[in-house]
Amino acid sequence: MRVDYVGEGLDVEGLAGTWHEQLVKWFAEAQEAGFPEVNAMVLATANAEGQPSSRTVLCKGFDERGVVFYTNYTSSKSHDLRVMRYASATFPWYAQHRQVHVRGPVEEVAPEETQEYWASRPRGSQLGSWASPQSTVVRDRRVLDDALAAITQRFADDEVVPVPGHWGGWRIQPEQVEFWQGRADRMHDRLRFVLDPVDRSWAVRRIAP
Ligand SMILES: Cc1cc2nc3c(=O)[nH]c(=O)nc-3n(C[C@H](O)[C@H](O)[C@H](O)COP(=O)(O)O)c2cc1C
Repeated sequence: MRVDYVGEGLDVEGLAGTWHEQLVKWFAEAQEAGFPEVNAMVLATANAEGQPSSRTVLCKGFDERGVVFYTNYTSSKSHDLRVMRYASATFPWYAQHRQVHVRGPVEEVAPEETQEYWASRPRGSQLGSWASPQSTVVRDRRVLDDALAAITQRFADDEVVPVPGHWGGWRIQPEQVEFWQGRADRMHDRLRFVLDPVDRSWAVRRIAP
């Protein structure tokens, strides 16, 4: 269970000019390495009492505005985000001894953008999003299977399944993005882009491992 990390380090000189460009680079390298679901990230939210929850979601896009995922707007995570409006997400790229940690306030993705992504989803996923009251207690599996059958029937004659009102995207608008590269002897590299709240400029800080 003890893995020693060797390999290339991460230095400020080798870092891209923005967190976004650096994430593009590492994302591409994770993809090239052929790992499954490189867009999976662990999303942490907190409820009104400050109690944290985490779960995996799929990142479905990122640009200079932030990191986007899609979910049910009535789920536990969305309830948390409506109250706290702040999230953190971590891409765990263990096979490369890397992680990227993003945190910041959240906003709902614009309906047009949600619509565009929704249209790219397979019909089965679309119907599943209609059928599942995500995060609520259901009596048994049958309830879910019956709900899916009823929704499938409802849209049977429709070529296009519309976006449910209870479904859409969230964008984490980063205030901090940390790139973590494992190194030998637990002397890892941590380079963190930090947003200045006043002039909105970014600085890079090296953080001790
Ligand atoms: C690999 C993986 C990817 C997932 N992607 C998503 C996703 O993109 N959106 C989503 O709502 N749930 C996704 N889930 C399910 C969530 O982890 C979680 O169970 C669900 O969103 C309900 O979370 P909540 O009750 O905390 O709101 C994924 C789970 C796994 C294991």
